[in-house]
Amino acid sequence: MIKIRNLHKSFGALQVLKGIDFTASEGEVVAVIGPSGMGKSTFLRCINFIEKPEKGILEIDGIEVDAQTCKEKEIRNFRMKASMVFQNYNVFKNKTVLQNVMLPMTAVQKIDKQTAQTNALEYIRQVGLTDKIDAYPSRLSGGQQQRVGIARAMAVNPKVMLFDEPTSSLDPELVTGILEIIRRLAKEHKRTMLIVTHEMRFAQEIADRVLFMDNGMILEEGTPENMFINPQNERMKRFLDQLK
Ligand SMILES: Nc1ncnc2c1ncn2[C@@H]1O[C@H](COP(=O)(O)OP(=O)(O)O)[C@@H](O)[C@H]1O
Ligand SMILES: [Mg+2]
Repeated sequence: MIKIRNLHKSFGALQVLKGIDFTASEGEVVAVIGPSGMGKSTFLRCINFIEKPEKGILEIDGIEVDAQTCKEKEIRNFRMKASMVFQNYNVFKNKTVLQNVMLPMTAVQKIDKQTAQTNALEYIRQVGLTDKIDAYPSRLSGGQQQRVGIARAMAVNPKVMLFDEPTSSLDPELVTGILEIIRRLAKEHKRTMLIVTHEMRFAQEIADRVLFMDNGMILEEGTPENMFINPQNERMKRFLDQLK
């Protein structure tokens, strides 16, 4: 379970998140949609404390932190509950596929090397990269690098997975393969997922719930049916019309 209350984040004078409240139950898949520059990435990055929010109470799986008062150690524990898949993959260029997937387990979670390797190999298999375990990212396509990103995020066994536009840096012909992997993970692993995406058909199909973010707030949320077929909010209607 993830619960976020009154989340605020600014960059200098720019207020990006203006008091977000959000809850998702275990295994729920939530798609986050909305125009560019409206705080979708910042929202995910604050959940994983890649950016530190100024204000807000965040809870995942019974671990709660108050952004205004939390200590480094609390943040470290909290961060282990979630993992992120980035738009630009963020794989380590000087490490092989296997090393990339093992690293968060050995460095952050302090899992012993043997167990980390066994886990890594299993997740690498699930994303279809077994024949590339010793390859460096420079030898991989964008789609393959993103598979590494997904395996790495899965391998730490997170309660919540955060996907920030996982397909928007990919050539069109590689998008389907990645969406298929995410779809399969969502089904087989019953993990809570927050997925920022511009792939509306994918969002409609995979999500239990859709959030529309605009101007640092959640303007509308609901089931995919309600959100895509019968949106109530004018801005959301306009946003969807633009994509047609
Ligand atoms: N590290 C940062 N420093 C300054 N401004 C930032 C930073 N990250 C994001 N922003 C600004 O915050 C706003 C929201 O960005 P972002 O969360 O990336 O939006 P989205 O993902 O919805 O496109 C934008 O105006 C962006 O320029
Ligand atoms: Mg973004």
